[in-house]
Amino acid sequence: MMETDPQGSRAVGLDLGTSRIVSAQCQDTDILFGTQLNAFTTIPFSKLTEGVLKKERIPYVLQDSEITVYGDESERFANLFHTETRRPMRRGVLNPDELTSATMVREIVMLVTGEKNGRGQKLCFSIPAAPLGAGEAVATHQSQMMRMLCDLGYEVRSIPEGLAVVYGEMESSNYTGIGVSCGGGLCNVCLSYLSVPVFSFSIPKAGDFIDISAANARGESATRIRAIKEESFCFNGHFASKTHQAIGEYYDEMIHALVAAIRDTLAGVQSMPKLNRPIPLVLAGGSVLVSGFRDRFEKQLRETELPVAIAEVRLAPNPQHSTARGALVAAMSEI
Ligand SMILES: Nc1ncnc2c1ncn2[C@@H]1O[C@H](COP(=O)(O)OP(=O)(O)OP(=O)(O)O)[C@@H](O)[C@H]1O
Ligand SMILES: [Mg+2]
Repeated sequence: MMETDPQGSRAVGLDLGTSRIVSAQCQDTDILFGTQLNAFTTIPFSKLTEGVLKKERIPYVLQDSEITVYGDESERFANLFHTETRRPMRRGVLNPDELTSATMVREIVMLVTGEKNGRGQKLCFSIPAAPLGAGEAVATHQSQMMRMLCDLGYEVRSIPEGLAVVYGEMESSNYTGIGVSCGGGLCNVCLSYLSVPVFSFSIPKAGDFIDISAANARGESATRIRAIKEESFCFNGHFASKTHQAIGEYYDEMIHALVAAIRDTLAGVQSMPKLNRPIPLVLAGGSVLVSGFRDRFEKQLRETELPVAIAEVRLAPNPQHSTARGALVAAMSEI
């Protein structure tokens, strides 16, 4: 096990995800997670509305004579006004089309950590591995987030998301194995050997790709597709409707691209450590939650010739917490 602070009270793990922001903090022997949608919606300002929001403890900020509601509550208000929520991030990085994206992320971070000031605590946040051609966007995102979190009063470092999954879920194999996070904007992958990353990469096909593609194919909104996917989609051999079928086809496309990228990246590694036994692979992230996903992924993986042997493919026990948990492990190892 990595050297950690037994109380861990001075450390925070933060998953800055396209879809959700998740914090992890130690309390006694437990890890406490805070989670909120990384989304916002605006409603017209009135003193009365503001008063009601305050009373109901709904998180909001005032911007340009509008009220911006953010986090989980944004979805409720978007539904109420028949609009879509807006998203501060896209494909793993700050959304350049949203002027207030950095402000929104800062507000949501304060909400999930329950702190307005970091008080010098060690904080480790996840960053995506850059998808092909997006290196500069990831570097800019990383430095903007670093600055924002330093300004909040934290002592900050970052960790690639795939490596965070390894730290969060692979203590039993001495942090050796492949961590995979299938999220909203990206699927992130990392091969780690004894806690040292051998490679990290990401592909831009994940939950949002499935939602948008199936929405286009079915003439529906992406929000509606996401709700159907989360509530009733599963891989069980047949599809209950044409919408389920479309979701299934794009899920397969994502799995296919992911397995092909794992194969190609493994094959291209110049100095592969000598792995003397088959290594495990862990699946994390919200997109692995659909029933039957693990089997579907493993089938595709086993049909693909890989240069390393995979011992087992397992689901993280709580896939939406893995990245924040691993970021916490990294933050605590610095104390
Ligand atoms: N129960 C569920 N069934 C299927 N999909 C789900 C479920 N719950 C969440 N998802 C999907 O998981 C995705 C979000 O996953 P996650 O929270 O891991 O992403 P993220 O970390 O915010 O994004 P990224 O890592 O790409 O930046 C969304 O596409 C969402 O629709
Ligand atoms: Mg993620």
